[in-house]
Amino acid sequence: MTAPLGVALIGAGGIGEIRAEAVAQTPGLELVAVADIDRSRAEKVAGRYGGQPSADPLAVAGQKNVDLVIISTPPNHHADLSLAALASGKHVLCEKPLAHTLADAGRMCAAAEAHGVLLKTGFNHRYFPAMAFARRLIDDGRIGEIITVQAYAGHPGGVEFGHDWVHDSAVTGGGSLVDNGIHILDLTRFFLDDPVVSATGYIANLVWPFGNAEDNGYALFRTAGGKVAQVHASWTQWRGYRFWVEIFGTRGYVKASYPPMMAEWGQMPEPGIRTKRRWNLFPAFQIRERLKGWRWTVVQSFVEEMSLFAEGIRAGREVPATGRDGLRAMQLAHAIYRFSREGVEVKDVEDSPDDIKR
Ligand SMILES: NC(=O)c1ccc[n+]([C@@H]2O[C@H](COP(=O)([O-])OP(=O)(O)OC[C@H]3O[C@@H](n4cnc5c(N)ncnc54)[C@H](O)[C@@H]3O)[C@@H](O)[C@H]2O)c1
Repeated sequence: MTAPLGVALIGAGGIGEIRAEAVAQTPGLELVAVADIDRSRAEKVAGRYGGQPSADPLAVAGQKNVDLVIISTPPNHHADLSLAALASGKHVLCEKPLAHTLADAGRMCAAAEAHGVLLKTGFNHRYFPAMAFARRLIDDGRIGEIITVQAYAGHPGGVEFGHDWVHDSAVTGGGSLVDNGIHILDLTRFFLDDPVVSATGYIANLVWPFGNAEDNGYALFRTAGGKVAQVHASWTQWRGYRFWVEIFGTRGYVKASYPPMMAEWGQMPEPGIRTKRRWNLFPAFQIRERLKGWRWTVVQSFVEEMSLFAEGIRAGREVPATGRDGLRAMQLAHAIYRFSREGVEVKDVEDSPDDIKR
């Protein structure tokens, strides 16, 4: 039997603790170290899920028994910690957004490539069953060629701003577009399957007084193949946390959303015919989430994400969403920031669109 991969968790806050719970449930992974500059948090998480607690993240990043480092600190620390781990030959799974600046994110991708190790971005929403279902419909050709994608993510602020750093653009690099919005920017790329070449959009600060952190971001993207996507990220969604992606193809459509986990879809033999609407309500999933809460759903997505990453590490192959996927999602957000500032449509949005992969 192959030995489990040793995992070090750096950053034992809200999401770090959920990551640790998921590592404990992921076959082939073993939590060997938990580091946080607040030692009491490292001790609490290690006490619950295993591993040696530490207040020295850089030492842990290079530790001999560690194969994979999970970075779950605020975004302005992602690059330094990832670069240390990558330079020590460790694979890295870094929470979103990949970094707080494009330059840092680019450095992280280059370092992974230079050291021959894997960098993965924590875009766990790809593993939500409704999103995976939509992807399968597309892969199976059930809705034809993709024409357009619309995506939305919103939350009401308030308790969602659990930490002051969440709305501090010096820490995150922006506002809603790089917070909840970064997941739907990634999902938009994931479903478009075509590199984004130009971007226009606006940001607005009409409610929350957070300076450079927008409370709403609106984007229009055009791909090399002429597809258009429309994305809206919001911190003024008063009805509560939610996100959805709607994809139209030449032979049908699918709309995947959460919460609740569901997908609506339809197919037709040729364009111009009204489709019969069908639903996938993921009943087993919905019942378990109702009993166990949203945290259970997040753990499931992390377990799926990390199982696939563990397989990729063993086989020596990249597993989407890669570091470059993380960088490109940021490039989409930053293109909107630039358009808002300069009023000029941003061209060549993605760094190297020719090697786009899922
Ligand atoms: N995948 C998702 O859906 C999702 C959801 C929320 C947050 N996130 C991301 O997860 C990350 C963590 O968010 P959170 O809500 O857990 O934040 P948090 O503030 O609850 O936890 C961050 C932890 O990192 C520690 N820390 C700070 N600097 C450190 C350093 N240099 N070295 C080691 N530890 C350090 C802090 O002491 C704290 O315990 C962020 O990147 C955030 O954007 C992802």
